[in-house]
Amino acid sequence: MSKEVISVLIGEEELDRRIRELGKQISADFAGETVHVIGILKGGAPFACELSKRLTVPVIMDYLQVSSYGASTSTSGDVRFMKDLDIAIKGKNVLIAEDIIDTGMTLAAIRDSLAGRGAKQIKVCALLDKPERRILKKIEADYVGFSVPDKFVVGMGLDYDQKYRNLPYVGVLEFVDE
Ligand code: IMP
Ligand code: MG
Repeated sequence: MSKEVISVLIGEEELDRRIRELGKQISADFAGETVHVIGILKGGAPFACELSKRLTVPVIMDYLQVSSYGASTSTSGDVRFMKDLDIAIKGKNVLIAEDIIDTGMTLAAIRDSLAGRGAKQIKVCALLDKPERRILKKIEADYVGFSVPDKFVVGMGLDYDQKYRNLPYVGVLEFVDE
């Protein structure tokens, strides 16, 4: 038997500080424009909300759901669309808010799907980035909160088997023998 142990990697205050900085930078970059913040369900939802709160430009919030993970800590490489956008993005400034970029497969699939819809521009903001794990080298976020090591992380939207999304910090999950 092993138990799940979580150690704090990025604390609540540090997350808040960095999200405020990202909000300031993105608000400056999109000055005078409306931004469609698209949260990627479920993991990107808490970050999409926290980031949107820190934007000073007008914001429209929408969500997209894709699925690539089961009860496993590694990607299956198979991305399925579960929920599409409610609001058309033609001619709009789109900001994808994602929890983490790992292999890059999810983001690549989302970008491909949104690319044909005539958005004015599509930018990506990821709370976390695991650059060591990238398979698709061309996939980078325009804005990144924190680069993290190649460890399995949970909290702030990130789950293990649907658990821990509600943690207000980002922690490393380890399995320790009992
Ligand atoms: P990618 O397609 O490999 O880039 O994976 C992106 C998705 O995998 C993220 O949106 C997460 O849902 C999930 N993911 C990747 N790494 C982790 C992790 O360390 N903890 C929890 N979920 C992860
Ligand atoms: Mg996700």
